[in-house]
Amino acid sequence: MEQLSLFDMPSVADKWQVQNFSADNFGEQSARMRLEKKLIDITEVSDKFNRQNVSYQLSKNDSLHRWLKYKEGFSADLVKKLLKEFDIKQGDTVLDPFVGSGTTSLVCKMQGINSIGFDILPMSEISIKAKQSVLDYDLAEIKRLILEIENLSMPENYNNRTPYITITDGAYPENTEKEIAFFTEWNDNDKYSEITRNLVTLCILNSLEKVSYTAKDGQFLRWDYRSKKMLESAEYRKRNGKTPLVIRLDKGNLPTLKQSLLDELNSVYSDISTIQKNATFGKTDLNFIEGNALYELPKLESELLNGVITSPPYCNRYDYTRTYALELAYLGITDEKIKKLRQELLSCTVENKPKIDYIKEHYIALGKEKDFNKIMKIVENNKTLAEINNSLNERSKNGDINNKGVLRMVNGYFLELTFIYAELYRLCKKGAKVAFVNDNVRYGGEVISVDFISTELAEQIGFKPVKVYSLKQQKGNSSQQMAKFGRVPLRKSITVWNKC
Ligand SMILES: C[S@@+](CC[C@H](N)C(=O)[O-])C[C@H]1O[C@@H](n2cnc3c(N)ncnc32)[C@H](O)[C@@H]1O
Repeated sequence: MEQLSLFDMPSVADKWQVQNFSADNFGEQSARMRLEKKLIDITEVSDKFNRQNVSYQLSKNDSLHRWLKYKEGFSADLVKKLLKEFDIKQGDTVLDPFVGSGTTSLVCKMQGINSIGFDILPMSEISIKAKQSVLDYDLAEIKRLILEIENLSMPENYNNRTPYITITDGAYPENTEKEIAFFTEWNDNDKYSEITRNLVTLCILNSLEKVSYTAKDGQFLRWDYRSKKMLESAEYRKRNGKTPLVIRLDKGNLPTLKQSLLDELNSVYSDISTIQKNATFGKTDLNFIEGNALYELPKLESELLNGVITSPPYCNRYDYTRTYALELAYLGITDEKIKKLRQELLSCTVENKPKIDYIKEHYIALGKEKDFNKIMKIVENNKTLAEINNSLNERSKNGDINNKGVLRMVNGYFLELTFIYAELYRLCKKGAKVAFVNDNVRYGGEVISVDFISTELAEQIGFKPVKVYSLKQQKGNSSQQMAKFGRVPLRKSITVWNKC
């Protein structure tokens, strides 16, 4: 374990400490420098947390946690380590306001710890319901269901199609489009228990990308050259004398939905039978609410938490509603609803519009206007945030940022997170600890240390900063930023705070 200290180990500190926040000394950076110097002393680079356990990588081999293919998730190992470090005991309550596939909730359940989780995505509910029922499934029933699906064929004259939205139009071969609708209708029966049918829904969700012409790639879906979208675009380019597109995705033979569904079901069946032989769950409350943490947290009563383990969306333009468009369309989210859902995301995309008027309205409706004003003051008086907003503004005027949405996103991101941090402080019991997994970012040559700024905001709210665990493996700099502004350390960190 390497303990970083600015004075003892300058060479190690050099590697994780940012020395220059504004490339070419373009803008003011004194507030960020001061904060960096202050918090590098509680920054620790340890083997305990690494790229594998803060990401989905470990979950891929972890029965249960791999049930929803959700690569934005962190691992069960990370949650276990933090629960231990926070001395969370059976019967305690832990919150994850951005629960995703439900890793925090499920690890808690397995350890007899109560949990509360929120997420705006409907996949979370299906995933959590499927996983928390693991000891309740009737294996004979699932076997029967698998056998029935093996012998099931879609009638030749079947003509219904699974719903689609503009960005998923033409995502499946025609027959697969029908097959998805067929198996979904078939799953709406009373032959099998509700939990088993929910498991089928989860397995269909996990199959969608595999059976489609698309591949999740960063913020977008990539399209196979055989898809309608790519064929039309190739035709258009040809007609207009443009060179053909070079980057071609060829997914090879696509499985049918039936094949993929059976693979998924057999895999969960095998996990269930192993887990049922070995696991026992204590009696716990696992609460999941599909909703926006910004509006849900203020409704909870104070001092009910023994800990928080979470990872919010990063401030990196990643749009969950685009990456998971197939899954959302399958679950009935229309074009109009997906636009609304995008706006519910904590501001992490360039398309997010300010939510502050809605937040204010909400606090007033709850009789919490004073809290709202207090939180706003913290944000408005934070010098580091002011410096970042000013620098980004200047960069934008200088032509270093090509999308104004970045400015709105960064500003909204910290504003909204401050509301989350303040609510967490209110919800925590004395002695409770909070862990946030996050990545630092850089726009237009300006470094934004999300870990330290968040810690500073949390401290201003009342938390005591405990530790910033930084991963040995840092985040890569984007090639454009590197070419234009050079390389800087971008930490991936787990910040830990305490309500004393
Ligand atoms: C980094 S992921 C969390 C992954 C999770 N730790 C896991 O292991 O699966 C962030 C999650 O925050 C959710 N999210 C974004 N904005 C939200 C909001 N305003 N309220 C609640 N959840 C939100 C996203 O849908 C996404 O699932």
